[in-house]
Amino acid sequence: MAEIVFESDNISKQVPDDSKIAAIADEAQATLPFGCREASCGACRLLVLEGMENLSDVIEDEVDVLGQDKINEGYRLGCQISIKSGKVVIRNG
Ligand code: FES
Repeated sequence: MAEIVFESDNISKQVPDDSKIAAIADEAQATLPFGCREASCGACRLLVLEGMENLSDVIEDEVDVLGQDKINEGYRLGCQISIKSGKVVIRNG
């Protein structure tokens, strides 16, 4: 099992390993906004406060949309990432 915390909404969820963040956010009715869900609009940008190592690897589309600097600062695209295991804390970004 894994744990995801949506800090902006004060929501914490226990989820199976390898769950998609977008699906969890939908189910939890988190306020993380989504647009295209295809790694092009950037609406789903979020900041990882804890547990970056527990997320799926950065993909090229995320670098294209966010830029390497933002990736280095801990930003990711919510529509593209999964939680592998362990705990992750995110904030709408
Ligand atoms: S929803 Fe458009 S990039 Fe994620």
